[in-house]
Amino acid sequence: MTPHQRPAATRPKPATRSAPASSRRPIPIVALDFPRADLALAMVERLGDACNFYKVGGELFTAAGPQVVQTLRALGKDVFLDLKLHDIPNTVKGAARSAASIGAKLLTVHTTGGRDMIEAAVEGAGPTCGVLGVTILTSLDAAMLRSAWGRKSLEVYGEVLRLAGECAAVGAHGVVCSGLEAQKIGAKYGDKLKLLVPGIRPAGARTDDQKRTVTAAEAAKAGANYIVLGRMITEAKDPASELRSVMKTI
Ligand code: C5P
Repeated sequence: MTPHQRPAATRPKPATRSAPASSRRPIPIVALDFPRADLALAMVERLGDACNFYKVGGELFTAAGPQVVQTLRALGKDVFLDLKLHDIPNTVKGAARSAASIGAKLLTVHTTGGRDMIEAAVEGAGPTCGVLGVTILTSLDAAMLRSAWGRKSLEVYGEVLRLAGECAAVGAHGVVCSGLEAQKIGAKYGDKLKLLVPGIRPAGARTDDQKRTVTAAEAAKAGANYIVLGRMITEAKDPASELRSVMKTI
């Protein structure tokens, strides 16, 4: 059993025809957090048809560059380029244009870069690449956020909602948020913003550096349009069957 698998007693029961299913299932995106393209592509091969959407983040993109994105596209896979851009608007606009030109379907920026920066990203990304604003990293809890932002009192929900409002105001595709806040954002901005939820863990499993985690089923129930699955899939003995069984819980 890998650290991200549940102990047998708490593993979800195999899905049956009568298992509850939400009306709208989130699209699973597997995070290819690897230091080399060959390792990432070997994971894609192991996952086969079980996964058609991959996240390329800072680790892989810095090591392997645009070529790995283009290779994934050539394999018929969609790519979420999770670069979490945070710079002056002109620079972010150019980076978003480049992301769209190499075939990324989703791209992240930090919402704390400001409304003009998010708007510049949306302009640069154009119609083929959706911009997602990272609200508050799922690795931060309220105490860490207060310390990082130098504020004595601060409430995560309030900040996440405020930042989501910035994205909605400039026509971003959506936001990245934890499953704990997804429902509130959906209630307020569901007609304008798609919700992407990382920090997915099986109930009772190791959370690593993540703080605000939920299960895949909880994320779906909260209205996630996309869920990002990282180590719980890539460190599993059989990533494809683990992903299939996670999706059966939704
Ligand atoms: O392995 P794990 O499931 O923790 O991976 C989560 C992935 O989602 C990582 O690649 C991380 O960079 C990304 N992510 C996140 N929290 C955010 C945005 C992205 O964990 N707010």
